[in-house]
Amino acid sequence: MKRFRHEIIEKNSILLLIGTLIVASIGGIVEIVPLFYLESTIEKVEGVRPYSPLELAGRNIYIREGCYGCHSQMVRTLRDEVERWGHYSLAAESIYDHPFQWGSKRTGPDLARVGGRYSDDWHVAHMKNPRSLVPESIMPGYPFLAQTPLKYDDIAAHLAANRTVGVPYTDDMIAKAVSDVRTQTNPESDDGDAFMARYPKAQQRDFDANPKMVSELDALIAYMQMLGTLVDFSGYKADSPENRR
Ligand code: HEC
Repeated sequence: MKRFRHEIIEKNSILLLIGTLIVASIGGIVEIVPLFYLESTIEKVEGVRPYSPLELAGRNIYIREGCYGCHSQMVRTLRDEVERWGHYSLAAESIYDHPFQWGSKRTGPDLARVGGRYSDDWHVAHMKNPRSLVPESIMPGYPFLAQTPLKYDDIAAHLAANRTVGVPYTDDMIAKAVSDVRTQTNPESDDGDAFMARYPKAQQRDFDANPKMVSELDALIAYMQMLGTLVDFSGYKADSPENRR
């Protein structure tokens, strides 16, 4: 009877161990190596830019208040999601998110594309008391946001911190960060054009309709109104065949 060479491994526990490690690590390598080339796996998408200082401040409030505990920010490729919220989320749309807000719980709706869906007035009323607009809502009210002045004297440091983890904020953006918060909430500002050149598609207005101060609510609404608005999906139809996956 022909002797199998495999017997050599089976009878030597050290050889068997080494062999097992080699075989098992192939799976590991296949999973881990692509992560080192992550840059190349995320498609660059036109329109995606770093958050403006006001949007970033709003995002910080979103995280501070734990909105992610009830809201996700990732439209999956499933048909019911795409029909409800629009084009599925692209990896590049969260490329400047540190930390990401994809979330794992949807007590409320996904917010990845909430920008432009409602008016600022709607958001002001909804944040004060969600039940005033959606009687059956179980979302808590955040009435204090409208009364709390936004603390933004340190916002440049937030931009700089994001730059250290790869967000391409320029020296100019960091230097103008504090004044850009005011510029974005004040449509009359002289620096408006330069601001728009720094942050294309940014929306410039007094979001909470209270010109007396830049409130935390201004920042939060500025953030929500830009979510999902940077990439142009206008040529996209929810039920075209290539989107049925
Ligand atoms: C306890 C869970 C909960 C928390 C926490 C919560 N929400 Fe909600 N949210 C909901 C629910 C439920 C709805 C749907 C009913 C409604 O519109 O009020 C909702 C709706 C919304 C909507 C409308 C979305 C749409 O497409 O109609 C926005 C915007 C929103 N929430 C923002 C926020 C923000 C910002 C925070 C944090 C400051 C937050 N939510 C915290 C539960 C929550």
